Amino acid sequence: MKELSILEAKDLAGKEVTLYGWVANRRDHGKLVFVDLRDRSGIIQVVFGPFTPDCYEQAQTLRNEWVVRMRGLVKERPEKMVNPDIPTGRVEFEPRELEILNRSETPPMPLDTEGYEIGEDTRHEWRYLDLRRARLARNMKARHDGQLFVRNWLSEKGFLEIETPILTRSTPEGARDYVVPSRLYPGTFYALPQSPQQYKQLLMVAGMERYFQFARCFRDEDTRGDRQPEFTQLDMEMSFVEREDVMALNEQLLIDLVAKLYPQKRIQQVPFPRISYAEAMANYGTDRPDLREDKNDLNLLAFCWVIDFPFFEKNEDSPSGWTFTHNPFSAPKPEHMDLLLKQERVGDILTTQYDIVLNGWEIGGGSIRNHTPEGLRAVFRIMGFEEQRIDENFGHMLTALAHGAPPHGGIAWGWDRLIALLYNEPNIREVLAFPKTGDARDLMMHSPAPISSRQLRELHLSPEGGTRARSDQ
Ligand code: AMO
Repeated sequence: MKELSILEAKDLAGKEVTLYGWVANRRDHGKLVFVDLRDRSGIIQVVFGPFTPDCYEQAQTLRNEWVVRMRGLVKERPEKMVNPDIPTGRVEFEPRELEILNRSETPPMPLDTEGYEIGEDTRHEWRYLDLRRARLARNMKARHDGQLFVRNWLSEKGFLEIETPILTRSTPEGARDYVVPSRLYPGTFYALPQSPQQYKQLLMVAGMERYFQFARCFRDEDTRGDRQPEFTQLDMEMSFVEREDVMALNEQLLIDLVAKLYPQKRIQQVPFPRISYAEAMANYGTDRPDLREDKNDLNLLAFCWVIDFPFFEKNEDSPSGWTFTHNPFSAPKPEHMDLLLKQERVGDILTTQYDIVLNGWEIGGGSIRNHTPEGLRAVFRIMGFEEQRIDENFGHMLTALAHGAPPHGGIAWGWDRLIALLYNEPNIREVLAFPKTGDARDLMMHSPAPISSRQLRELHLSPEGGTRARSDQ
């Protein structure tokens, strides 16, 4: 088993150790052969020469991305040979033994650069190689470190991490659903969750009181730099809270996360400024204003809350001409509950929705929910839904709310967006292990892909219906 990372070797001058990793490059200088040995933690310079007689010749055969094990001596470098640009720059490694564990074909792109200069199609097609570059290895670790911090922080505050289903049912959350045909029930479909919204509310009805989850969400919408068809939310919900409680807890979590993991970053203003939707639109022309005083400062984080959104907006596709702006499960502001229940002055009703914005990106949003069936039903009535449609689509939620649902509210952060911003990445694809392209394809796995006509038949989907079957069956 590999017991030592390359980074750890930097503190072991004078010790004999075993290192495992990949050949990042090899430079032949006559009597000396230099190899940069790389693992996830970094690189170390390896020197072969007359002093390493047992493996000098073998070292000359090494090629980029070959996988090796080396046993040898970590040595302090002479002062003038120190390389201040890499963390292991004060040492080098002199192997006594070299074992080649695997060879590699020539990689289709350089892996020792940041990678921004390489076409994304190539990077996506060869993602398992792309992830070997230091920047992406760092991004993967950043996601992990952030998740670990958040998990511990929320656990200490009494939250339980609970997983919710991926095979669920189509919901009206604003985006198009990805659907999965049912084999057992012809003509019916599961949907992949756009978010765990309903499940997390049902967990509150179930008395779980404080829930969180790093939740995979699926939305069949146009992909952009800050949008993927499949993405991760830090999703949470709490019982017996008001808007201020959820906002205060999340603000503190963000402050603590930055202080612990990104001490070099400065939060521009604490407490985070709060801007009403109306103010944001009037002053900045957007509901996700970039409030940074200095947009060239890579370490400046300008968080703000946007609140007091209208609950409903005009929409021609809705039977009544009104639809919700954010989330149909939200409660109105307490002073507007009467208007909602009476279905009066619909355009004036403000929701408890709060969005959290960072440097001009919406990184999260949530609300206090309607915890009575009357409140939720009123939302659908305002949208012009017939009683029968309300019961068919939302009967399970209305029934649950009628069985002792506590007051509750929550939020979801766009986890990919937050990590991308904290690392000044230009888009969220850079912080996902296996992202999809701008047009929602996975170039490595070649998906989406046709399925066999047998699978189509089992799923009650007919090739005649326009579904193309895979040509091999
Ligand atoms: P909402 O739809 O605002 O709220 O989503 C919450 C946050 O998720 C991020 N996000 C995305 N990130 C990447 N790709 C996407 N396609 C994408 N869509 C959204 C954003 C957004 O702020 N259930 C509610 C939350 C709640 O009310 O508790 C919800 O999903 O950063």
